[in-house]
Amino acid sequence: MNIKLSPSVLAADFSRLGEAAADVYDAGAEYLHLDVMDGDFVPNISFGAPVIKAIRGCSEAVFDVHLMIRDPIRYIDDFIDAGADIITVHYESCFNPLFVVKYIKQKGVKSGITIKPDTKPDVLAKFTDFVDQILIMTVEPGFGGQSFIPSTLDNIRAARRLIEASGRDIDLEVDGGITLSNLKTVTDAGANVIVAGSAVFKAPDIAEAVWAFKGI
Ligand code: DX5
Ligand code: ZN
Repeated sequence: MNIKLSPSVLAADFSRLGEAAADVYDAGAEYLHLDVMDGDFVPNISFGAPVIKAIRGCSEAVFDVHLMIRDPIRYIDDFIDAGADIITVHYESCFNPLFVVKYIKQKGVKSGITIKPDTKPDVLAKFTDFVDQILIMTVEPGFGGQSFIPSTLDNIRAARRLIEASGRDIDLEVDGGITLSNLKTVTDAGANVIVAGSAVFKAPDIAEAVWAFKGI
């Protein structure tokens, strides 16, 4: 399967984020995954729009922004201004998630919806007419470096079925604990966009890790 790789800079050296962004793009990663955490929706704080804007010039990758923030509609314009190409919001974080994904699209940016491991994938059905990407969380959001939760495979399969039923070209992304060891398991379940934080940025050689994921 032809996958797209979205290395998460959450696992990169924050003192040289721009170089980290350039390194993975130069090695062949099509996307860059940017995990925004507010210390409220998730128990951790990462970075926001100004940091994304600062590294926008360092890479031509698709900037894949994952918003783990409560009531994200308040900040969508800021992330678009920072250079986001795809903005994914949590079903659990919005008062009206359908309104938020429609708002993102209307602004000319690709939109995504995501669910935490314990949220039933059925809730995604009403989004398939509107989103460009569905993200299935394969760990509890909030921290990098966690272990993949095997029960989320059912959510990946359910999301793939919904995408097929919609007849639309929607990417299916997975995020959390993805390594070279479970890559085939998640792609067999239907994922085609792979987020990898630790498995790329904590590898001894970042470029080699990207190549290994891409099967180059
Ligand atoms: C978790 C984040 C992930 C995380 C992935 O809340 O959404 O994107 O950075 O990191 P690894 O690949 O280390 O699990
Ligand atoms: Zn993420």
